[in-house]
Amino acid sequence: MGHPGLLARQLSLVFNRAGARTGIGAARLTGLIAPTVATLLAGNKAPQFLPALAYGNRSVYGEEETDRFLRLREHMMTTTRPLALVTGASSGIGKEAALALVAAGFDVVGTSRDSSRVTPLDGVTFLDLDVARDASVTAAVQEVIERFGRIDVLVNNAGVGSLGAAEETSVAQAQAVFDTNVFGVMRMVNEVLPHMRAQGRGRIINISSVLGFTPQPYMAVYAASKHAIEGYSESLDHEVREHGVRALLVQPAYTRTGFEANSAKPDTPLHAYAKRRQTVDRLMAEAIRDGDAPAVVAKAIVAAATDAKPKLRYTAGPMAGRVSTLRRLVPARAFDKQIRKINRLAA
Ligand SMILES: NC(=O)c1ccc[n+]([C@@H]2O[C@H](COP(=O)([O-])OP(=O)(O)OC[C@H]3O[C@@H](n4cnc5c(N)ncnc54)[C@H](OP(=O)(O)O)[C@@H]3O)[C@@H](O)[C@H]2O)c1
Repeated sequence: MGHPGLLARQLSLVFNRAGARTGIGAARLTGLIAPTVATLLAGNKAPQFLPALAYGNRSVYGEEETDRFLRLREHMMTTTRPLALVTGASSGIGKEAALALVAAGFDVVGTSRDSSRVTPLDGVTFLDLDVARDASVTAAVQEVIERFGRIDVLVNNAGVGSLGAAEETSVAQAQAVFDTNVFGVMRMVNEVLPHMRAQGRGRIINISSVLGFTPQPYMAVYAASKHAIEGYSESLDHEVREHGVRALLVQPAYTRTGFEANSAKPDTPLHAYAKRRQTVDRLMAEAIRDGDAPAVVAKAIVAAATDAKPKLRYTAGPMAGRVSTLRRLVPARAFDKQIRKINRLAA
């Protein structure tokens, strides 16, 4: 028979589901019943018909037995909170999402490429992670599994912007952007999925953008990376659903973060695009300055993580909702005209 702790954890899955179905607190069920059942299944000397509550009584069951039960119960009580892993939690949307997930009852692991420089966040454990490096992704996911034993929600938030005309961006620069925004997501998904499939449950939340379904001149490479995430996530969702896992998309509009300052600038600037680029750069900076608070996006991320019947796509905030509706309803020619107007491009 297996280790009682492991059994208890497996049983906690069953009780969590039962608790969710019956409305009985899952923590009460797992905390009080699972350790006892696990101990009995493990062939322990525990009295056979013992109500779980009485198990804490030292005068009846002795010091050693009682301590063992209390340790096991403590373990169960502290490990049954779902765990969320948020990439790029050092700033902006990721930071707000990490805090909102803590408030929603998750154990949260946040990441940064250099966690020693991150201001600590209450309830968030920080790890180093560079999603553009295979070894870093493998090591970070392994560490989460070793320390917490599970990953219930993965928020693929780490990302970089890229400004400038398409022709002003070298292929090497575009590859670097894709290595974070697209292949970084794929690395994380491939590393985390085996654990989610083994658990029979999990949610992968990929942070897309309104630029995942609309064009943005002078941000072609970035828009391409977010369009790629849309197609990838929707396809992935069909594959993993029958394993109890969902792949979902959150689509923010312009959001007040360091995104623009952290964006890659064109590495081969051309005079032919300079004037238009400067105009679009200015419009972009204004849009981000006047954009949604990161908390608006964090709210959508928490909804995607916790909704009983999750949607494939969550627009974050009213602006993203409006853009999404317009994209679907406005005829292509009119939409095209509007994009040129907004970006001050010649008709
Ligand atoms: N702000 C917007 O208007 C907006 C709109 C739509 C979508 N988004 C998306 O929202 C997400 C978050 O962006 P943000 O606006 O919050 O920008 P941000 O403040 O610049 O945050 C980006 C985060 O990504 C992390 N990161 C960057 N490269 C990484 C890498 N190679 N490996 C691991 N982490 C990396 C950074 O962490 P470290 O530097 O600490 O490693 C940072 O925490 C991105 O996917 C972005 O595309 C933003």
